[in-house]
Amino acid sequence: MTSTLTVAVFCALAGATAAQCGKSDHPNCATWQRNGQFCTNPARPLAVRQQYCPITCGNLGCPGGATTTAKPGSGVENTNCAKWSSDSTKPFCVNSMTVAQKAQYCPATCAFEIKPTADCALYTVTDKKFVRGTPSNKTSPEKAIASEAVASKTTVSRAYAGTGCTVKLFADAAPADLTKPTVSFVGKADAHFFTVPDANNAALSYSCTCA
Ligand SMILES: *[C@@H]1O[C@H](CO)[C@@H](O)[C@H](O)[C@H]1NC(C)=O
Repeated sequence: MTSTLTVAVFCALAGATAAQCGKSDHPNCATWQRNGQFCTNPARPLAVRQQYCPITCGNLGCPGGATTTAKPGSGVENTNCAKWSSDSTKPFCVNSMTVAQKAQYCPATCAFEIKPTADCALYTVTDKKFVRGTPSNKTSPEKAIASEAVASKTTVSRAYAGTGCTVKLFADAAPADLTKPTVSFVGKADAHFFTVPDANNAALSYSCTCA
């Protein structure tokens, strides 16, 4: 008896949901979503999101909409995350988005940036493609770690430093003097991601130390 009732209610809800879903996204959905407004504004009714951006917003129960749930974060991985995060002009996971926004749109792609699991990391660019290098933990004693830069091909674009940790970049793969970096970055509670100046982006190694 109970299960029959449950099924009936479920079918009624599913029918109502599908009926509100637009067949495709409005052309401006990506822009609306990227500006952080459309899919996440709690004041915007579900039916409106279903009608205008059933695919882009995802998780609305609409046919064809993204339904992947990933950790960490409460959001649903957007189908554009790979494209956004590898865009060297404004790489999504390390740009000025808040942690909440990263978790909302790209919880899997930006998992490291949302909840870093290491003390330091470098990001490189090869042919305009932005990627996170292998993160590393502090070393004691301090030592030079390969930056993953490749002469005339791959440059160091950004650095991540955990709170109280210092990333130092060195021009050489095996620097003779670790006290003379070309540039260094110190992570603070409110500042973890740093842009590497063009003059220093050929650095072949780095060190990671923490206070
Ligand atoms: C860094 O240390 C954390 C634990 O503190 C560990 O979970 C993680 O795997 C380590 N990462 C690397 C790259 O060694």
